[in-house]
Amino acid sequence: MTGIKFLSTGVGLPENVLTNADLEKMVETSDQWITERTGIKTRRIASDKQATSDFSIAAARQALSRAGIAPETVDAVVVATCTPDHLMPSVACLVQRALGLKNAFAFDLEAACSGFIFGLACVNGLMRSGAAKTVLLIGADTLSKFTDWTDRGTCVLFGDGAGAALLQASDRDDNLLAVHLGSDGSFTDILNIPGGGSRHPLQRSKNAPFTTGEVAGNFPPYIHMEGKEIFKNAVLRMAEAADSALKKCGKTSDDLRLLIPHQANLRIIDAVAKRMKLGDDKVFRNVQKYGNMSAATTVIALDEAVQGGVVKRGDLVELIAFGGGLTWGAAVLRW
Ligand code: UT7
Repeated sequence: MTGIKFLSTGVGLPENVLTNADLEKMVETSDQWITERTGIKTRRIASDKQATSDFSIAAARQALSRAGIAPETVDAVVVATCTPDHLMPSVACLVQRALGLKNAFAFDLEAACSGFIFGLACVNGLMRSGAAKTVLLIGADTLSKFTDWTDRGTCVLFGDGAGAALLQASDRDDNLLAVHLGSDGSFTDILNIPGGGSRHPLQRSKNAPFTTGEVAGNFPPYIHMEGKEIFKNAVLRMAEAADSALKKCGKTSDDLRLLIPHQANLRIIDAVAKRMKLGDDKVFRNVQKYGNMSAATTVIALDEAVQGGVVKRGDLVELIAFGGGLTWGAAVLRW
């Protein structure tokens, strides 16, 4: 095996659009504040009946159809998500069942917003070990279900969605040139979902079964974020990761056709671009439309850049991301 080929990408999004004007009616905020501080104008939000696997399945279906390969060819499904439908089974197993990927093994991995880039490193390992040849890698999250819709500091930021990439071990092509990953568990307190896991599970009452959504004391199952600290770390870590991955494959930011950063906040993206001395035409932005879709952001942005003709075969592209954990990562692609 020489390298990894990207066969195709695909996207799955909820239909519901939530605008800044809608949010003005829900919490004390304004279109002006949200636009100036984040750049976000709209985001897609799951309906009551939708969950992460729905968007994952739609994204995967599109990637499979674009690549024109039979479902039996896929031998692994990896879903990067921190908002699975259930604690068990994995979203990956739900995707496998829905699409009839009968020869695939399937599992989820969790690295919050950096999940898709951690997934690329994981797929690289699966292929080089001989465990899999054709892999469906999905970045998907439905943070709206873990958002406190009365907290204006977080509820304006997030959107839901999934992006998929179909990857294949190749003897001729190598689209994945380098990956750099990092984590710092000493910052677990500044970005997390405190309740709903095994530390602070949903409450049980003596006679009644669990009530979904019931909160455990002071540990609600909603996103807690110290925005300013996260902002500083995001800029620093993404810029460092970008540099490290480029160095690993002997490139510099001058060689890049496009930087695809995690889409959390336009100001974070601009600050990283400035550090990397990249002009506007070399940095992809779609956070205005979708908000922060966590693990889905970089792969959906890659899909849009490719479908829109911004990235062409042979271009050097770098994905960078940052998220809870803390986790961060960068991947250099030769498209
Ligand atoms: O995917 C990785 C995870 N997330 C991120 O990368 C997000 C990182 N952080 C951020 O993007 C920014 O920190 C935020 C957009 C979350 C906040 O922007 P900020 O410039 O850091 O604002 P702030 O939190 O310091 O708040 C400034 C003011 C506060 O009022 P006072 O205390 O100055 O009176 C907030 O209460 O803005 C207020 N505020 C709002 N006002 C209107 C906070 N949220 C809102 C809101 N609408 N939605």
